[in-house]
Amino acid sequence: MDIASSSQKDKSQTWWKEAIVYQIYPRSFQDSNNDGIGDLKGITSRLDYIKSLGVDVVWLNPIFSSPNDDNGYDISDYRNIMADFGTMDDFDELLAGMHARGIRMVLDLVVNHSSDEHEWFRQSRSSRTNPYRNYYHWWPSENGLPPKRYSIFDVNNDAWKYDELTDSCYLHYFSVKQPDLNWENPELRKEVYGMMRFWLDKGIDGFRMDVISFISKDIDFPDLGFESEQQYLQYYANGPHLHFYLQEMNKEVLSQYNILTVAEGAGVKREDALNFVDPGRHELNMLYHFEGTDLRNSTVENEIPDPRFDLPAFKKIYSGWDNLYSEKGWGTIYLGNHDQPRMVSRWGNDSPGFRELSSKMLSTFLLTMRATPYYYAGDELGMANVRFNNIEDYKDIATINKYRKLEMTGGDLSAFLEEMKEMSRDNSRTPMQWDASDNAGFSNVNPWLKVNPDYQSVNAASQDKDPKSVLNYFRQLVLLRKKHKALIYGKYELLDKDNPKVYAYSREWGNEKLLVLLNFSRSESPIQLNPKWKNSSLLISNYYNDPSPDALRPFEAVIYQMK
Ligand code: GLC
Ligand code: CA
Repeated sequence: MDIASSSQKDKSQTWWKEAIVYQIYPRSFQDSNNDGIGDLKGITSRLDYIKSLGVDVVWLNPIFSSPNDDNGYDISDYRNIMADFGTMDDFDELLAGMHARGIRMVLDLVVNHSSDEHEWFRQSRSSRTNPYRNYYHWWPSENGLPPKRYSIFDVNNDAWKYDELTDSCYLHYFSVKQPDLNWENPELRKEVYGMMRFWLDKGIDGFRMDVISFISKDIDFPDLGFESEQQYLQYYANGPHLHFYLQEMNKEVLSQYNILTVAEGAGVKREDALNFVDPGRHELNMLYHFEGTDLRNSTVENEIPDPRFDLPAFKKIYSGWDNLYSEKGWGTIYLGNHDQPRMVSRWGNDSPGFRELSSKMLSTFLLTMRATPYYYAGDELGMANVRFNNIEDYKDIATINKYRKLEMTGGDLSAFLEEMKEMSRDNSRTPMQWDASDNAGFSNVNPWLKVNPDYQSVNAASQDKDPKSVLNYFRQLVLLRKKHKALIYGKYELLDKDNPKVYAYSREWGNEKLLVLLNFSRSESPIQLNPKWKNSSLLISNYYNDPSPDALRPFEAVIYQMK
């Protein structure tokens, strides 16, 4: 392999590096037929809004047939549309509508597991000799108890489920209704590649690959003796044939299309990330990590919650990831998605005085790093955690099963409910807040998950009219990233690295040098600017004017351009 040419290619400029990805949770975006569930026609009806944001790519969470044990992450037919979401005609119309507006579509590829209602699994479970038996992982009872494997969603965290019919257990890293597919089986892999081609030939522009790091299992199933979830996740992400499968998938499918591919890097450590995205290895384009979002509340003494995390550690993580890709590969950046609480509640401050400022500040961060931003729908409005009081309000299998487990083991349920107000995935899955009408304009009937009651003040319609809204600030940022290539490709340099409240960095590309200053706290925070920045011009400010030269106001965000 010619090293010079591969590194040449590596530094290349490509559309998916320049893209801003907008993530839509279809169940919660727009209901078109008033059954309380968002659907494809609903998304189509909002395409002009999406276009108005200036984003380039839309990633849709799974839209395929599913009994919805885990909201579509349990697929029963990979080549059909979930009945709740509409029909294949609706899909074709949505794709055409996006392409007509110059927006690309990325779909979720969920192939670590299927639904237990998939035909493959029905066959597989029916007898030990069924031709589909080896599409899944089975442990026959005569071998004794299977070695402990950890399940992320199971009430007992047990990843083996006994099935009487064939007197065997099947493996499920997630819920009992999400049996893991057996990638060792070449027949299965062929099916998956064929299915991927089916969607790519329809014209989609890429895949976000759900827990793709887990697909390869050590099928001898050794005893592990692990104690923590983390140990299991890292083990799951390091299966013996993972990179062989990804290279095969690349050769058979991905390399034949001009597409975006991004791995959900569950359990993947920084030192292993290049194994997925080094272009010389011919696997995937990008991977998103959990090191940032896993950062727990600070042990550092700060005015709680100001900030609620250790900012120097946060800076170190994001600078480290930038550095990892300085020679080859390309990064991603996100602070919110359907598995995380709302960005502003988790990383900013959603109290009335700071919600708008801190939303804008966090968006400034996401859109000025050297990485492709994955921006979650609703964050452009500053939507906040819903903070349900009752377990009955939750629909998320992860939240509900953890609650059940605590109930069974006599755990502290009220402490858990308090924690879920900050961390449950349902916080970010509430319906999109379009306007101040009933159900936030999402539906005419009660939605599948309650609307956040703040929708009368936080919604797209009112923000659209306000030039200083969170929404219009986001639009400005998008334009800025498009205009200044330094924000995309420019060299990143962390400044004032130990500053406990301010994240400051420069981006440099050709003759252009930009400075980004972000106050992550709700108090005024001193900064020490190199005098060479004194004459810079202000490109954007979430206070809509220059900061003082020696301190940033609460949650202040500014971008300067050096003259
Ligand atoms: C990924 C998805 C999450 C889902 C899980 C199982 O982590 O993002 O929503 O529950 O995989 O498919
Ligand atoms: Ca609907």
